[in-house]
Amino acid sequence: MATGQGQSLADAVTEATAILRDAGVPSPRVDAELLADHLMKVGLGRLRALMLGDTPAPAGYAELVAERAGRVPLQHITGVAHFRYLELAVGPGVFIPRPETESVVQLVIDHVQGMAGPRVVDLGTGSGAIAGSIASEMPGAEVYAVEYSALAHAWASKNLAPLGVNLVLGDLRDALPELNGTFDVVVSNPPYIPAEAIPNEPEVALHDPPEALYGGGADGMELPTAAAASAARLLRPGGYFVMEHAEVQAAWIAGMLGRGPWTRISTHPDLNGKERATSAVLAGPDDTE
Ligand SMILES: C[S@@+](CC[C@H](N)C(=O)[O-])C[C@H]1O[C@@H](n2cnc3c(N)ncnc32)[C@H](O)[C@@H]1O
Repeated sequence: MATGQGQSLADAVTEATAILRDAGVPSPRVDAELLADHLMKVGLGRLRALMLGDTPAPAGYAELVAERAGRVPLQHITGVAHFRYLELAVGPGVFIPRPETESVVQLVIDHVQGMAGPRVVDLGTGSGAIAGSIASEMPGAEVYAVEYSALAHAWASKNLAPLGVNLVLGDLRDALPELNGTFDVVVSNPPYIPAEAIPNEPEVALHDPPEALYGGGADGMELPTAAAASAARLLRPGGYFVMEHAEVQAAWIAGMLGRGPWTRISTHPDLNGKERATSAVLAGPDDTE
């Protein structure tokens, strides 16, 4: 690729799109535009308008395109992940939040609607995407977040401190024992990939931290099972638990919850209609099994 001197923005983006497509990047045109906008900071609408004229390509564009062609995640290059209404700081050592997790946040928001000062905890918060969204969209909520990885915790701290979330460095299996039985909602997107199911995309396999991906055990279900046990410990009776998982794990998770202290177990589709989340309500003394 030309280094940008003299090349128009439009030509540089077209060339970058071809380079990214050849490298197997799934959305080459959008990524080419977003990388240009990362340097120009004009917004995609204005960028597209500028491509109709003879605006020159920004300096440093070819280097960013080469990095992306090496399948470094776009969000690691720009340093930002967009999630619901948030712009989260991300980089090496933290899981990039995914669009399907936005539906998990919506389940929580729908559930706490109308509740005064709901208490919510996010187990395995990563960048803080779930906890931060709930805190920013439900200003009355008291939100806690737990993260085990020191690197991810550092990213979460940056993202969550301005939103007033109580962030804890700890293991979801035994975190916050002093708050047992006090939460209205426990939400989690735990690691759940089976040990042998190494993801195909280099962005995931090489750049998402392994501790964010693999759930433990041949079926990946150790941490999801532990998250459910912690939810039963942290929730008040009648409290709501919602957890993300792979589509193929939906029936197993519903069965696992069915053998525990849970009622109203429901599986929820994501925006693509895939069963990617399960919720349940912690049974109280008045519930008959
Ligand atoms: C799939 S990522 C989800 C991150 C974030 N909640 C999201 O949805 O984008 C799982 C997160 O759980 C964290 N984690 C793994 N094991 C943990 C444990 N035992 N206790 C707490 N967090 C853990 C990982 O470091 C990672 O940040």
